Amino acid sequence: MIELENLTVTFDDFTAVTDINLHIERGEFVTIVGPSGCGKTTLLRAVGGLQKPTAGRIQIDDQRPAAAQKAGDIGFVFQQQTLFPWKSALENVVFLRKMANESPNRKEARALLDSMGLEGFEDARPSALSGGMKQRVAIARALHLGADVLLMDEPFGELDEITRDELGVEIRSLWRREQKTIVFVTHSVPEAVFLGNRCVVMRDEPGRIEATFDIDLPDPRDTEVFGSRAFQEQVATVRQTLHESYDE
Ligand SMILES: Nc1ncnc2c1ncn2[C@@H]1O[C@H](COP(=O)(O)OP(=O)(O)OP(=O)(O)O)[C@@H](O)[C@H]1O
Ligand SMILES: [Mg+2]
Repeated sequence: MIELENLTVTFDDFTAVTDINLHIERGEFVTIVGPSGCGKTTLLRAVGGLQKPTAGRIQIDDQRPAAAQKAGDIGFVFQQQTLFPWKSALENVVFLRKMANESPNRKEARALLDSMGLEGFEDARPSALSGGMKQRVAIARALHLGADVLLMDEPFGELDEITRDELGVEIRSLWRREQKTIVFVTHSVPEAVFLGNRCVVMRDEPGRIEATFDIDLPDPRDTEVFGSRAFQEQVATVRQTLHESYDE
């Protein structure tokens, strides 16, 4: 369970996010959508123990974020590729486990790469992989860490739409299979609706939560959902909320 209570983060006299209250149950898939600069990354970094709150409180189960992060209980996947260029896909996957002083399990790491559609690419360096493949490696790496909580910051931001959709379907099935708690930040309203069981809409100046929507779509989801009326209606509702807060 992730609990944010009156979270505020300021940089000098600039308020990046303020008064964020959010309760995320274990096993939830929550998406966060909002305009550029509204504080999505700041919020995620605070949850991950990478950014100290200026005020308020964050708990991850019974731990503070920094402790949870140190204990390897939080996995990150960022938009920017953060793979080591000189290491193979497999060595990139096992690396974080080594950092956390846990023994890497190459057999499991291989199986994870296979499950992400990377069979045969275990020994490839990142430079030989496409953007989508690199993101798959980054996801496998976060999974290999064994963390229950996955924080994802626009992990598909630089990918083409087809790859994005495909990875979205994979992340959903991974979430179902592994029963992770996922907090997923995106710019894209359709992506936020497709992936989430709950969608948090943020607004800016200062960054805060504007609204939260329960997403009502069938499960498991595949790309057929995009054509459904329920999907389109929920996308329209979220989009409308974003526009209303933007126009104020
Ligand atoms: N370390 C920092 N020092 C000063 N200001 C910062 C710092 N990090 C973020 N900010 C500011 O806080 C605000 C929120 O930034 P943040 O990166 O969280 O936004 P975002 O919603 O993730 O945007 P984007 O969608 O473009 O990634 C921005 O105005 C940014 O300039
Ligand atoms: Mg960001």
